[in-house]
Amino acid sequence: MGSGLATVGASGVWVKPEPEGFGAELGGVDLAGGLSVADVAAVQAAFARHAVVWFRDQPLTHLQLEALSLQLGVFGEEPYAAPLPGHPHILEVRREPQETVAVFGGGWHSDWSFLKTPPAATLLHAKIIPPVGGDTLFADGTRAWGALDNDRQRVLEGLRGWHSATGPYGPEGYFAKETGRVGMTIYSSPDADGRVSHPLVRTHPVTGRKSLFISPGYTVGIEGMAPDESRPLLEYLFAHMTEDRFVLRHRWAADTLTIWDNRCVLHHATGGYDGHRRVLHRTTLVGERPV
Ligand code: SIN
Repeated sequence: MGSGLATVGASGVWVKPEPEGFGAELGGVDLAGGLSVADVAAVQAAFARHAVVWFRDQPLTHLQLEALSLQLGVFGEEPYAAPLPGHPHILEVRREPQETVAVFGGGWHSDWSFLKTPPAATLLHAKIIPPVGGDTLFADGTRAWGALDNDRQRVLEGLRGWHSATGPYGPEGYFAKETGRVGMTIYSSPDADGRVSHPLVRTHPVTGRKSLFISPGYTVGIEGMAPDESRPLLEYLFAHMTEDRFVLRHRWAADTLTIWDNRCVLHHATGGYDGHRRVLHRTTLVGERPV
């Protein structure tokens, strides 16, 4: 274990936080072999504290990724995208060298925030990483909330945002119209035109900390507000939460396993790797109704 890295409790898991405390590399454990009870507690504690955590050099089979996911929670729902054959909870995020379609997840969002109970966490395991580009950006909703002035916070408390999958997955949405995607099978459905409301400011069930809960890809309005009133407020919040000071750039390597907390983090898959293959395997863990 390198100097300056703290281990957690009885576990050998070490934690190397980013300077702002948002994001941390973890190590000291072989994920393929399964986690001990102390390891699970250590990973969960680091996850609660740092919101995005990653392990380097962890080859995992499909079964090992599923087993790891189940040590940390319960599988969430995976709408609108075909899972790996025989593995209904693993979504393969794949883009082939010849593809010129938009990068999957290539806009700021919190995974599946349009569900009544959006996933608490996402696990993403890198299989093939291009030599250039393909980073994932993460934005810290907790610090973004804390940086708002009191008047703004008072206005936001009690407001609820409308979340919908219509933009990407509705019959008139982006994926219904695109052609040329070969790496992934994505479905459109009239169901996507529905909407659910969630508080714009959410209290984390584990840490008790408040964070902004907005999802630019899916938050389409605010309850009780006309679009011309809600749109400028949402645009302001989207821009605020994704300011550089709240954003962490995550660089992948094959066999990196990264876990993020959708309850308080936005993410954005960047491109910049046309002509190269990029493949990652993703599971989600069920969450709770946001409050
Ligand atoms: C996603 O889950 O939104 C994709 C993230 C990525 O490919 O970096």
